[in-house]
Amino acid sequence: MTGKVATFRIPAQITLGCGAAETAGAEAKRLGGTHAFVVSDPILQKLGATEKIVASLSAQGIKATVYVEVEYEPSVGSVAPCAAAAKKSGADLVVGLGGGTSLDTAKAVAMLMRNEGSLEDYLGIGLVKRRGVPSILIPSTAGTGAEITPNALFYVPAARDKKAVVSPLTIPDVAIVDPLLTLTVPPTVTAATGMDALSHAVEAYTSQNASPMTDLYALEAIRLIGTHLRTAVANGSDLAARDGMAKASMYAGIAIGNAGTNIVHALAYPLQGQHRVTHGVANSLLLPYGMEFNALSNLTKFAAVAEALGEPIAGLSPRAAASKSAEACRLLSLDVGIPQTLREVGIKAEHLADLVEGAMKVTRLLANNPRQVRVEDVKAILEKAL
Ligand SMILES: [Fe+2]
Repeated sequence: MTGKVATFRIPAQITLGCGAAETAGAEAKRLGGTHAFVVSDPILQKLGATEKIVASLSAQGIKATVYVEVEYEPSVGSVAPCAAAAKKSGADLVVGLGGGTSLDTAKAVAMLMRNEGSLEDYLGIGLVKRRGVPSILIPSTAGTGAEITPNALFYVPAARDKKAVVSPLTIPDVAIVDPLLTLTVPPTVTAATGMDALSHAVEAYTSQNASPMTDLYALEAIRLIGTHLRTAVANGSDLAARDGMAKASMYAGIAIGNAGTNIVHALAYPLQGQHRVTHGVANSLLLPYGMEFNALSNLTKFAAVAEALGEPIAGLSPRAAASKSAEACRLLSLDVGIPQTLREVGIKAEHLADLVEGAMKVTRLLANNPRQVRVEDVKAILEKAL
């Protein structure tokens, strides 16, 4: 609806640019921190990236306790020992450095340092009672946008499902986006995280909750991904491509942090929960299928997506122009080596019924979808993707 009321929230500060990570110490000091609990991962520690953040903190007289025992695609159970270590350390600030795994874990830990109980108590929408300790999030991949959003996603083994903490109180105080940190990301991860970012941008742009503010960021993110993802995958040391993707990921994070995702992320949830397909691959694989389904809902916006991805749409009918969006997405997906079918990630026909059931439970995201989603629709999309 034109002119509807929309709220827009982002971190109080975003610092962007090559070398931005070196400002971590100064930002921690500005936030009043004296002892930082740094959540990172073994790969970044080995590469020396974690040590650089610790050095930046140390230069400002801030003590650091480093925790790298994170679980990739973290389960709820993996957060408890991390939160316990944070509390025991006496830290008064949390720094997250890494991909979605470290950033979501850091968000949960900062929150649990000021909220009673365990992570399970806060899985859901708006359940967090107070802001956590001050936090600084620094992404090392270009994809999740977790440094911006109010969401943190965890695997719940008992439910074979992924569940999220969603609260504006978990938006970090500072997001630091430094393209230099992404130079060492391998091509497969660059591709999957980059296509996940495209999914964020496309879904937010076409969401029921899209606003003029999120549209600005979402469309620019789509344009940047169309321009830079292929190069970032083909030549990871191309700094212009890495810079473009770092910006795209952050802009897409701003867009989903306020407009949300929809059908692609909803259908990807059970793929992650039931079959442990990684978040990036699950969403990347399903994106063109979701776009094909949704294109009818808003021909103008899907035509704009096609144009932002570089498709010539002049002279085409609105329907033909909108169709070009999914075609462009599929070509990009093929070029960067994303699996194109569910079979390629181990899914068989007998798994579809559970996947359909799981997807239909993700009502939080399906409610944002621009086209009404019936159970037959989900079944048809997954059969097509098989
Ligand atoms: Fe995502």
